[in-house]
Amino acid sequence: MARKKIALIGAGQLGGNLALLAAEKELGDVVLFDIPAAEGMAKGKALDIAQLLPVDGFDARLSGTTSYDDVAGADVCIITAGIPRKPGMSREDLLGTNVKIITEVATNLKRTCPTAFCIVVSNPLDAMVYAFKKLTGFPKQQVVGMAGVLDSARFRAFVAMELHVSVEDVQAFVLGGHGDDMVPLTRCCSVGGIPVTELLPKDRIDAIVERTRKAGGELVALYKTGSAYYAPAAAAVSMAESYLRDKKRVLPCAAYLEGEYGIHGYYFGVPVVIGAGGVERVLEVKLSDEDRALVLKSLESVKKTAAETKL
Ligand code: NAI
Ligand code: 2OP
Repeated sequence: MARKKIALIGAGQLGGNLALLAAEKELGDVVLFDIPAAEGMAKGKALDIAQLLPVDGFDARLSGTTSYDDVAGADVCIITAGIPRKPGMSREDLLGTNVKIITEVATNLKRTCPTAFCIVVSNPLDAMVYAFKKLTGFPKQQVVGMAGVLDSARFRAFVAMELHVSVEDVQAFVLGGHGDDMVPLTRCCSVGGIPVTELLPKDRIDAIVERTRKAGGELVALYKTGSAYYAPAAAAVSMAESYLRDKKRVLPCAAYLEGEYGIHGYYFGVPVVIGAGGVERVLEVKLSDEDRALVLKSLESVKKTAAETKL
């Protein structure tokens, strides 16, 4: 069986880490694409990682390019092209620049990778994945946004830190847009099967929820020159892996909704099943009145940024 081809559009901080993780999981051969000004970085990262693989004993071919001809026919495209936040900026502040970039990327991937499973990561996420779907016209199963896996991982990490337990035993998920009004569902968080509400007092859970919502900003303030990349790369690779290996994992992702959760025609973070068919199903969770109010607030933000793409 031929190796799968994974195209990484954007070879920056996320692109490099995506390449490393995809190669180390032997998901396929990796092509790092970037603009001509960043050609050396794309080629350099490909070469550097190719030289790491013999040490760890993994097989994958890596290359760096500035030509869309080299990404043609990819099975998976992960799109991180665009500028990241700097301290004091919201994800929404990136919209004007990144919508131009996503337009160029979408136009080229529509031509060169018409059947690829496309995972959009660039921010503001919910608007960028909405724009990418509109611009390519790809089916909704084929285009998904990465945010919920990362936001949920942050929630899980903070609960595990608080309780001094293994992250493996903490389950949780975050619903809604990838903004500070995302909705970590406390009711659905459990530790070894025990509801977190039985293990932690309300004020500690509230603090964890708030830290989760602001976790992206916490890292921007620490890094100062950009945003998080290790955890976001791992999150996107878990989505690619579920598709390529038909794992049918249940992952919170930005999916195009056509009536689910009462939402029509927008990308919104919900639990989905990812398998060989792409986004195969959206799972609907019953919401309390309080959760529903938070979801509606998050949806308003998502609708506002989607409208600002003017697509
Ligand atoms: P970075 O600045 O390190 O890399 C971005 C790369 O995109 C650069 O190498 C740049 O040359 C490239 N690029 C710019 N225009 C391009 C074009 N037209 N075609 C192809 N490549 C182009 O930024 P980083 O840290 O890798 O973040 C990338 C994006 O991902 C940002 O928008 C960031 O906000 C977003 N992000 C989203 C997350 C999420 O949860 N959805 C998490 C973390 C970052
Ligand atoms: C994050 O949440 C910046 O969206 C990115 O880290």
